[in-house]
Order: sequence, then C-alpha cells, then structure tokens
Amino acid sequence: MTHKTPQIVDQHGRPHTYLRISLTDRCNLRCFYCMPEEGIELTERAHIMSLEEIISIAKTFVGLGVDTIRLTGGEPLLRKNFAFLLEELSKLGVTLKLTTNGILLDKYFDLFEKVGLKKINVSLDTLDKAKAAFITKRDYFDRIMLNVQTAIKRGFEIKLNVVLIKGTNDMEILDFIRLTKEENIQVKFIEFMPFKGNQWDWSKGVSEEEILQIAGEHFEGVKALENGPHSTSKNFRVAGHLGSFGIISTITNPFCSGCNRIRLTADGKMKNCLFANSETDLLSQHRAGVPLEPLIMRSILDKKFSRDGMDLKMDAGHYEQNRSMIAIGG
Ligand code: GTP
Ligand code: 5AD
Ligand code: SF4
Repeated sequence: MTHKTPQIVDQHGRPHTYLRISLTDRCNLRCFYCMPEEGIELTERAHIMSLEEIISIAKTFVGLGVDTIRLTGGEPLLRKNFAFLLEELSKLGVTLKLTTNGILLDKYFDLFEKVGLKKINVSLDTLDKAKAAFITKRDYFDRIMLNVQTAIKRGFEIKLNVVLIKGTNDMEILDFIRLTKEENIQVKFIEFMPFKGNQWDWSKGVSEEEILQIAGEHFEGVKALENGPHSTSKNFRVAGHLGSFGIISTITNPFCSGCNRIRLTADGKMKNCLFANSETDLLSQHRAGVPLEPLIMRSILDKKFSRDGMDLKMDAGHYEQNRSMIAIGG
C-alpha cells in the first residue's frame, strides 16, 4: 500500500495520520460515564454527514496523508447502510479499525473479513452480567460476550476497553488480566476521563500506578512491552500469557507527545484533540463547495500540545464546554 507523505503536521512537529470518524451520536447502551443521565439532544438528521459526505471528506484526509481510519459512534454499527459505507471506505487503501459496544458484531463478521477490517475494539467494563446491566442500563451482556468469543475464534484482533470506576469494576482488574492467559487479546484499562455531563470526579478514577500495583502484587513477571510511537496505551504482558494488557493514562500520565489523531464528529466537525473545545465545521463548508484542505491545516496548527491545554486539575470550566463522550466517539 503506498501512502501519501503526511501533510497534516502541527506546530509541535507531530504528523497526523489517524482519523477517527464518529458515524452517529446514537447508542443502544447508556453507560453512565459516556452518556449524561438526562440523555443528549440527538443531532437532527439534516446536520449529520450523509454516507457520501463521509466518504468524500475521508478522501480529502487521505489525500493529506491519513493512513488509518477508526470508525466510532455513539455505536457505529447502528448507522444505516453501514455495509455500503465500509465497502466504500475500504477502497481508500487505509487501515480500517472499529470501536464498538459489540452488540451488533455478528451481523458484520463476513463483511469485515471481505474488506479486511481486522482490528476491533470492544467496550466491556465488566465480566459480570448484573453489573453490566447496572453500568449500561441495558441487558445485552450475553450477546456481547458471545460476539467477542466469536470474533476471537474468527481471528479478529480484539482489544477490550475497560473504563475503571472505583467501587464498580476495579475489583475485576485481575479477572480481566486472567483473560489474557489463554486468549491473544489486549485488555485496555482506561482512566476515567471528564466530558460534559458525565459527573466526573477523579476520586472515582483508578490510576495507572494503582493498576500496576494490583497487577504486580498478584502476577509474577509483569513485563513492559515496546509501545508504538503513537500508542495511547502503555502495554504489559504477564509471563506465559498469550495476550497483553495496556493502560490508557490520560489523567495521571498523558501520552500526548506522540499524538497523531484527528476527530470528525457525526455532524461533520473536526476536533484537533479529544478535549478540544473549538471545532472546525467541515461539513457546512463542504456543502458550500469550499475546499477543506486549508481548514484542516488551520485547525491542526491551532492544536495545543496536550489535552487542549486543560490544566492539571482538569478544570470543569474546560471540559464542561466540550461535548459529551457519546457525541465524540472516544
Ligand atoms: P488503537 O487504535 O487500538 O490504539 O485504539 P485507541 O485506544 O486509540 O481507541 P479506542 O477507540 O479503543 O479508545 C480507547 C480509549 O482511548 C477511549 O477511552 C478513548 O477515549 C481513548 N483515546 C483514544 N484516542 C485518544 C487520544 O488521542 N487521546 C486520549 N487522551 N485518549 C484517547
Ligand atoms: N473516560 C474514559 N473512556 C471513556 N470511554 C467512554 N467514555 C469514557 C470516559 N468518560 C471509552 C469507552 C469506549 C471508548 C470509545 O471510549 O470505553 O470503548
Ligand atoms: Fe492527542 Fe489530545 Fe489525546 Fe493528547 S489528549 S493524545 S493531544 S487527542
């Protein structure tokens, strides 16, 4: 596969080659850390990118050197005509990845194999059915587990996303690591992050240090692995385990120096950081026939070095102006 030279370079010298596209702000789960309790105002259909618009805007990014596209949501597999979209995106010659809650995966395994989408990250915060119902406010646990097992059997590269919340699922850290003994999967423990309306409070979070301490006290031979230059997670393997585990430490140990990510929301706004409060309206400009390249470059040149410049105390004055996670896609 030949890729264009990365052209989307920020003021800190970071080439941006990884685009995360949110296909919808709808979801079939209601995880409290992601979706505000009162719900969100769903974007009117007319303001959501059509499939053709997604493809066209994605092509512009690929022309500027993007070589990886991750599809996110809400829940991306809820998007109507997802199959058509994926087939078209697969013609762009980029690595395609997906982040999903896993409920609808079984409908798409054949398609994923056909288009070569191998990397699937599944949100799975607990291995306990009753707790899953509490966290997600829905009852899809068995279906998700079955789909994850099928995906592993069929050879997809599976990562499990575990957002750790103190008193809720932190007591399952060892159980999740045990899953990596026989299965070649990666479990990613994620520090709870603040977004609009998610009642963030770091006393509910579990830090990288705590996770490593728990893992180290129980397992012998927890070895740090090499991390890719743009990895969000610091990765580890327990001696003798097939799979690995990683920690996404946005709060206590941010990894922004290697950032190569750009986000496109379902309503066509470019965000130059997960925590960016300013957005660039690519969709309206695209509809008006305006070339997007200069707008993309402007946005990336405005990118701050870390977490949109949010202070270390993670001030609510900053993140409450951001979107809810469900409308960003992670
Ligand atoms: P890979 O492409 O496999 O590395 O996945 P990923 O970890 O980047 O993406 P995924 O959608 O699985 O997200 C897992 C967690 O990482 C979520 O909590 C995301 O919000 C978080 N995450 C993803 N990208 C970034 C990023 O650029 N910065 C920060 N701070 N967190 C991110
Ligand atoms: N903090 C950290 N991670 C989150 N996710 C959703 N909300 C949060 C949050 N507040 C993660 C989910 C999902 C991914 C896209 O983002 O695990 O898999
Ligand atoms: Fe990049 Fe922002 Fe994430 Fe840091 S917080 S890695 S700058 S997207």
